[in-house]
Amino acid sequence: MLLLMYWLGIDVGTGGTRALLIDENGAVISGFTAPHDDMTMLQPLWAEQRPENWWAAAQTAIRGVLAQSGIPGNDIQAIGLSGQMHGLVILDELGAVIRPSLIWCDQRSQPQVDWINAKLGPGRVLAAIANPVLTGFTLPKLLWVRDHEPELYARVRKVLLPKDYLRFQLTGEYASDVSDASGTALFDVVHRRWSGDMCEGLEIPLEWLPKIYESPQITGTISNSAAAPTGLRPGTPVVGGGGDQAASAVGNGIVEPGIVSCTIGTSGVVFAHTDAPAYDPQGRVHTFCHAVPGKWHVMGVTQGAGLSLQWFRNQFAPNESYDALTAEAATSPAGAHGLLWLPYLMGERTPHLDASCRAAWIGLTAKHRRADLIRAILEGVAFSQNDGLAIITAMGVPVNRVRLSGGGARSPFWRQMFADVFGCTVTTLESQEGSAHGAALLALAAESEPVEQVCRRAIREVNTHTPDPTQSAFYRRAHAAYQGAYPALRPLNPKP
Ligand code: XUL
Repeated sequence: MLLLMYWLGIDVGTGGTRALLIDENGAVISGFTAPHDDMTMLQPLWAEQRPENWWAAAQTAIRGVLAQSGIPGNDIQAIGLSGQMHGLVILDELGAVIRPSLIWCDQRSQPQVDWINAKLGPGRVLAAIANPVLTGFTLPKLLWVRDHEPELYARVRKVLLPKDYLRFQLTGEYASDVSDASGTALFDVVHRRWSGDMCEGLEIPLEWLPKIYESPQITGTISNSAAAPTGLRPGTPVVGGGGDQAASAVGNGIVEPGIVSCTIGTSGVVFAHTDAPAYDPQGRVHTFCHAVPGKWHVMGVTQGAGLSLQWFRNQFAPNESYDALTAEAATSPAGAHGLLWLPYLMGERTPHLDASCRAAWIGLTAKHRRADLIRAILEGVAFSQNDGLAIITAMGVPVNRVRLSGGGARSPFWRQMFADVFGCTVTTLESQEGSAHGAALLALAAESEPVEQVCRRAIREVNTHTPDPTQSAFYRRAHAAYQGAYPALRPLNPKP
C-alpha cells in the first residue's frame, strides 16, 4: 500500500493565520486562512494584537485545512511555524498572556531605544547584536512595559515571539529559532545565541528567553491537549521554523547568493541570502540569521507596503477589490501626473530608521483623480523597496534578479512596475505561498535533508517581467524626486 505523507506549515500573519499542507516534493496540497481582528491602534503609530486570537485562528486554520483536503492529522509527518516578527508576547508564571502584544509595526518605544543607547553605547550594541536597536524590535517594547506598566512587568516570566506563542500552545515548549530571535535586539546574530552582554547590561533575565534552535531542528511535539482542538496527532514533531521573512525566503528559494526576494505583504521586504554576516555601516538594513542553518541574510523593510493600499481601500473604497484598484491605477500614466506617495504610515525602517516620520501625497492638483492617488501609492511602495535594494547592492551583495511574492505579487501591473523601478528582471513562483510554504518546507527538511535541496526540489519560477528601458529611465528620475521629499518633510514630523 502506498503511504501518503504530508507536512504542515502555519504562518501567524498580521491579517490572519494560514495553515498549508505540502507533499514530499514540497508541492502545495491545500491552504486555509483564519482571519484575525484588525490591529488595535490606541494612538497613532501604536499597534497591538491579542496572542489568544492568534491561537484561536491557528486552531481554525489547522482544522480547516485538514477538513478541506480530507487529509487526517495522522498523516502529517512534521509541522513548521512562521510568524510576524518582533512582536512582544509576555507570559506570567502560569504561562498566561499578561497583556496584548505590541506587534512589529508598533513605534512607541523611541525613549527606550534612546535609553539603551545611552546606557550601553551604540558601539557595544552593534558588537553584541550586529544591528542597531530599532523601535520595531522586541527589546524596547519590553522596556516600554517596564517603564509604563511596572505592575505587569513584575509578573513577566517568559518573553516569546508570535509564532513561538503558538508553539507553546501546541507543544508546551518555550522555544524559538535563530531567524526570529535575530529581530529581538537581544540576540547575538554572529554566534547564533542569546546575547549575554545585552541581557546582563540591561538586566533582562536570560531565563525569560526561550531555548534557541536552528530552523529545521525539532523543538518539541504536539501535546495531548493541543491534539484535541486541532485534529493533529499527539507526538507530531514541530520544527523551529522561522520569522515570516526568513520563512518566506525559504518558500521563495532565497537560499543561495544572487537571487533576492521582494515580499509585499502588510510590510514590504527585500531579502538577500549571505554566507557570512554582512553589514550596512549605517544599519539601514537588518543583518539577521537565516532559516538555513549556518547562513545569514540582510533585509530592508518598508513598514507600510501592502498596508498603504489596504489603508486606501479601507478609507476610500471599502467595497472594491484590490484587482479593481490596481486596474484603476493602470489608467493613470507613469508618475501619476507628478504625484508622489511616501508610504510612511507606520514610521519607517529602511532607509530612514525614523519612527516618527509620516506618510504623504505630494504634488496634488485639481486635475488629479482617484486613479492617480492609487498609482502614486503603488509607485511609492516600489521606490521604497528600491531604496532597500540599492543599499543591499552597495554592500556588494549580488542581485541578479528579484523574486516577487506576497499579496502585492498578484497584480501583473504592479509586478511590471517593480521590474521597471528596480531596473532588473522580476519573477514570480508557481507557489505564491511565501511564509507558510517556507515553514512547511522547513518541516519537510527537518533533521534529514538540507534546506537548499528541499527548495531546489520544490520551487519553480513561472512569470518573468523584464524592465522596459524607457519606463526605467523615467522612474530613475521620479525616484530621485521621491528621495528628496523625506528630508524636506522631516522637520514637520511630530516629536514622539
Ligand atoms: C520584518 C517585519 C515584518 C513583520 C510582519 O522585519 O517586521 O515583515 O515580520 O510581516
